[in-house]
Parts: sequence; C-alpha cells; structure tokens
Amino acid sequence: MSSKNQFGSKIGLIAATVGSAVGLGNVWRFPAEAQENGGAAFLLLYIVCVFLLGIPVMIGEFSLGRGTRANAADAFSKLKPRGNWWLIGLIAISASYIILSFYMVVAGWTLEYMWQSLTGDLYEPVKTAITASGGTVLDIQFASKMHKYIGEDVRPLVMTYIMLLLNLVILLRGIQKGIEKISNILMPMLFALLLIFAFTSLSLPKAVDGLAYFFHPDFSKITAGVAINALGQAFFSLSLGMGILITYSSYFPKSTKLGRTAVTVSLLDLLVAILMGIIIFPAVMSFGLSGHKLSGTTLVFVTLPEVFAQMPYTRLWSTLFFMLLMVAALTSTISLAEVAVAYIKDKLNVTRKKACYIIITPLFFMSSICSLSQGSLSGIKIAGMDIFGFLDTVATNYMLPVAALLTCLFLGWKAPKGFLHKEITNNGTVVSKTYPVIETIIRYIAPILILLIIISNYL
Ligand code: PFF
Repeated sequence: MSSKNQFGSKIGLIAATVGSAVGLGNVWRFPAEAQENGGAAFLLLYIVCVFLLGIPVMIGEFSLGRGTRANAADAFSKLKPRGNWWLIGLIAISASYIILSFYMVVAGWTLEYMWQSLTGDLYEPVKTAITASGGTVLDIQFASKMHKYIGEDVRPLVMTYIMLLLNLVILLRGIQKGIEKISNILMPMLFALLLIFAFTSLSLPKAVDGLAYFFHPDFSKITAGVAINALGQAFFSLSLGMGILITYSSYFPKSTKLGRTAVTVSLLDLLVAILMGIIIFPAVMSFGLSGHKLSGTTLVFVTLPEVFAQMPYTRLWSTLFFMLLMVAALTSTISLAEVAVAYIKDKLNVTRKKACYIIITPLFFMSSICSLSQGSLSGIKIAGMDIFGFLDTVATNYMLPVAALLTCLFLGWKAPKGFLHKEITNNGTVVSKTYPVIETIIRYIAPILILLIIISNYL
C-alpha cells in the first residue's frame, strides 16, 4: 500500500477516528438519554457498555480493517473468499450511506444556526421578547423559528449542499492531505471549545444543582429497556457496525497498537459525552429550563438558544456552540462518506477522485429528499414516518445492529483461526493479557447483547 493511503502519524489517526466517533450522538443523544434514564445511573451503565462491548468490538473492527487493508466489504471476502461474507460489509456500507443522506441535512442545519448566530438573526426579535415576558415566550419563539426554518424548502437545501461540497473537497484531497489534515485542525479546536463551554457552564449560578442532577444516580430508572438503550447509544456513538472503523483502520500503519488505539478513541468519545452533560445540565438549571426534554433537535435548536439568549455575549457563545456542533458533524460525515468512497474505488477500479464524485453526486439528490421531507414533501409517509424518520429508523435501528452482530459472528467464528490474535498482538510482538476476554466478548457476549437490541427494536 502506498504511504499516501495510510495515516501519516499516530496523532492523525487518533484525531480522524475520534472525529468520526464524536458527532451528534454525543451532543444530542447522550444528554437526553441521561436526563430520561436516571442521570449518573445511565452514565454508569453507558460506561460499562463502552468497556464491555464498545472497546472489544472496536478492536475487532480494527483487526478486520488493518489485517486485510481492504474496504468494508472486501475485508470479509479477503478472509473468507468462499461464500458471500462480503454481504455483511455491504449492509454496513449501505447503512452508513443512508445515514449520511440525512446526517448531512442536520449538518446543514448546524451551519445555518452558526451563520444566524454570527449575524445575530437568530436572536433578533427574540431578545426583546424575553425581557418583556420571560422564558415561555422564548420557548415558543425558538421552537417556531426552528420549525419554520426546517420546514422551508430552499435555505436548508443550500446549507446541505454547502456541507456536501465541504465533504467533497476534503475527501478529494485524500487520506493524509484531506481527512488526516482536517482532523488534526478540527479535533483540537473541538476539544478547546468543549473546555471553554464546560468552564463557562460551571461558573453559572446554578452549576452545582445542574451537576448534582447529572451526577446523582437514580437506579430506580434502570430497566432492561434502559440498558439496551445504553448499549445502542454506545454503538451509535462509537460508530460501530457501519464499516467506518474497518475503513479507517485499513489506513492504519502495521505498527499501530489496536488495543491502545481503541481505548484512547473510546475514552475520548466518552469524555465528550460527559463534558456535554457538564455543559448542558448546569446551563438548563441556571436558566430555569430544567423541565425541558433535552432531546435531539429541541435541545440543540430551542433549549440552548434560550440559554444563550439569557447570557451576556449571546451571539459569541451561540456562534461558538454551533461551530462546535458543525465541526462534530463534519468529521462524522467525512468518515461516513469515506466508507463508500473506499468501496467504490476498489469495486469499480477507478481513481479516488472519480470515486468521490460517484459517491457525493447521488447524495445531492438523496439529501434533498431528506431535507424536503421536512418541508413540501412532509406529506409523504412511509410506515407512519416521514422519509427522514423512516431512513433513520431503518438504518440506525435495524441495519446498524444487524451489521454489527454479523461482524462479531464472522470475527468470532468464521475468520481464520489466529487472525484476531495476530492483529491484536501485531504478529506476536505486543503482549495482550486481555486477548482471551476480547475473544470471549466478540464470540459470545457481544452477539447475544446485540441480538437483544435487535429484538427490542421489534417489540
Ligand atoms: N458516531 C457519530 C455520532 O455519534 O454522531 C457518527 C455516527 C455514527 C452517525 C453512527 C450515525 C450513526 F448511525
């Protein structure tokens, strides 16, 4: 493999992989789950899931990618040329491509909100309303602003296209000059922003109450369903079962220590989730918004703007926050797209440049449909959901866990004997005391637990 198709430095490969993992999952899924499911009790459960399942499965995916140096589908057939094992990879590649089509739309929303924060438009009529009548008016105003914006046809499309073009430019530049370089710039920026927000949030009047809420474990909320949620969240957040980790690790040098890399990536991703909790709970507590459901779009596009509107330097904080969100989304979309680019490049035997165009062009259409499904196409329903919601459910609730389950079964039972050990120990040069545990998890524990996620999605 030419060195151009390999990450150039250890820091670079960690930055890129963390960039993939840290995304909207950390920002708007984690705080919502924590709020609903017993605060620190959920956090503890989540940490257990990351260690018990997340890290071993990540090591498994890294082994597949680095060991075969192939795209997410060929990685399977290289190890088992007979049979249709590559289909597992194809499910993952398709899932990540579908996810990309709507994730790009949300990335576009973050760009719009960053722009509107910078220009002040987001806060224009709203600021006057708070002083006059308090939080509820603010709430209605930001909610209606969000619905109005998302429901528009043209503007969200333009923002989605800008994000698509940004992705294209970075992907065209290749692994080292594109993905690695941009991750080396954006990831330190993201962590710096997170720290600034955490300190600011901790200096708010009711910071202690917010932290007490977040770190108080309410174990009565923990049920089997909540445990399955924590597991699902770990998979989503760590980008497991999507071909992303297989693809990125195919660019890892032979000397990369897979265990150590997986632990570093997972801990940094966990740190971001915890920092988001530390930022959000004190902020909502301090501004009388603790009754809000901290979920998804409402948290990000309604509750947080309400917080910023009540803080000094509203526009500055708001711009920085949406920049953080945009960066988190951008590095994740790049990794989602790279899965398909690597596959197409090999399958059609074309240059990287051609593969990038082949992958990005249909996305203009698919993302447009997702974006318009919030506007003039909102009347189209599939299984009771709009197109956006339908694709989200199919890809994240069904395809993603199925691909993860089959990947574990393949690695644990079908891959050549000794393959996993050889990769984890770098051909016997690195001692791995935890190998038997990792193997047991991949063979037995992970498949059983993932099966539970799949069954619970059907219930
Ligand atoms: N891990 C990223 C996130 O948490 O947002 C990227 C991602 C992974 C997006 C899995 C979507 C997905 F289904």
